[in-house]
This record gives sequence, C-alpha cells and structure tokens, in this order.
Amino acid sequence: MEVEEVGVEATFALRAKVLRAGVEGSDVRFPSDEHPQALHLAVSDEHGRAVAVVSAVPAPTERRPGRSAWRLRGMAVEPALQGRGLGAELLDAVVERCRGEGAEVIWADGRDSALGFYRRRGWAVEGEGYDKIGIPHHTVVLDLGVEPGR
Ligand SMILES: CC(C)(COP(=O)(O)OP(=O)(O)OC[C@H]1O[C@@H](n2cnc3c(N)ncnc32)[C@H](O)[C@@H]1OP(=O)(O)O)[C@@H](O)C(=O)NCCC(=O)NCCS
Repeated sequence: MEVEEVGVEATFALRAKVLRAGVEGSDVRFPSDEHPQALHLAVSDEHGRAVAVVSAVPAPTERRPGRSAWRLRGMAVEPALQGRGLGAELLDAVVERCRGEGAEVIWADGRDSALGFYRRRGWAVEGEGYDKIGIPHHTVVLDLGVEPGR
C-alpha cells in the first residue's frame, strides 16, 4: 500500500473512529487544517478508504526555539490494521515530506499509549505529561539535524 497526499476530508472518518472513538459530534477538524501549507498523507485500501492518516503543518515549538519546526496531528491507523507496519511507513513518509519543506525539527502531542511507537522511530519524549481531551500526553520531538553549509 502506498502513501499518498490527500485532501483533508479524506482524513475525517479515520480521525473520528480512531482518535475520537466514534463519538458523534466530536470535532475531527483541527484549526491547523486551515493552514495554507497543511499537508495530509494517507494509505488507502482497495476501496479508496483511508486506513492510515497523518497531517502536518508548520508550527514552532518552545522546545526548539528558533528552529524551523513542523507539527504532526491526527496520526491514526485503522484498528484492524494496527501493528503491521503501516504507522511506521506513514510516519517515515511524513518526516521525509517535512524535511523536504525545510523542517529542522518535527513535534507532536503524543498520546502516552503511543509513546513507544514514536520512540521506536527515533523520537524523543520530552517534558512533563499533560492532559488533552481527557487523555494523557507527552510532547514527542524528532530532530532532523541541519545539513552542512546551512
Ligand atoms: C500508534 C499507531 C499510529 C501506530 O501505528 P501502527 O501501524 O499500529 O504501528 P506499526 O505497526 O507501524 O509499529 C511500528 C513499531 O512501533 C511499535 N508500536 C506500535 N504501536 C505502539 C504502541 N502503541 N506502543 C509501543 N510500541 C508501538 C511496533 O511494535 C513496531 O515496532 P517494531 O519496529 O519493533 O516492529 C496506531 O497504533 C494507532 O493509530 N493507534 C491509535 C491512535 C493513536 O494513538 N495515534 C497516535 C496519537 S499521538
């Protein structure tokens, strides 16, 4: 299955199912979706339904002041397909896209239940934990380094 760029609407069903537990009326639109550079990547099944999604947007982080930073949002894999490498493939793809956009660092609000996933891909877990929509989180950060001469 291939990672492709999609419109934001293609992410909503999976965001709702996986990240909002299918709760009716949950907001699956993020304010960052409105950003003109917002990027949405997905892996789709044979029916064209997204089974893995992630979004990214330029956004600074106080953890790396002055660094060109992108933020990931809405990382989700269809429950029946979790644990088969789809998330890793998508995360690697979005990291490369962000790198291509000039990101020096990428960050996200990582759910505590998913921190091991980010750590496995080389991300650092930083700072104190915090609550978002009733779910414990930590900030996860990936430093991409700066190429020589930049
Ligand atoms: C977290 C999530 C995106 C990972 O996607 P996935 O397709 O299930 O993960 P993969 O199969 O690609 O796993 C890649 C590696 O991370 C590990 N991993 C995956 N999920 C993990 C988790 N929750 N905790 C610890 N390790 C995890 C896998 O064991 C695998 O390790 P390996 O490299 O040794 O084989 C997915 O499980 C998901 O959508 N979870 C629910 C929503 C969520 O938590 N989203 C993230 C919000 S910050």
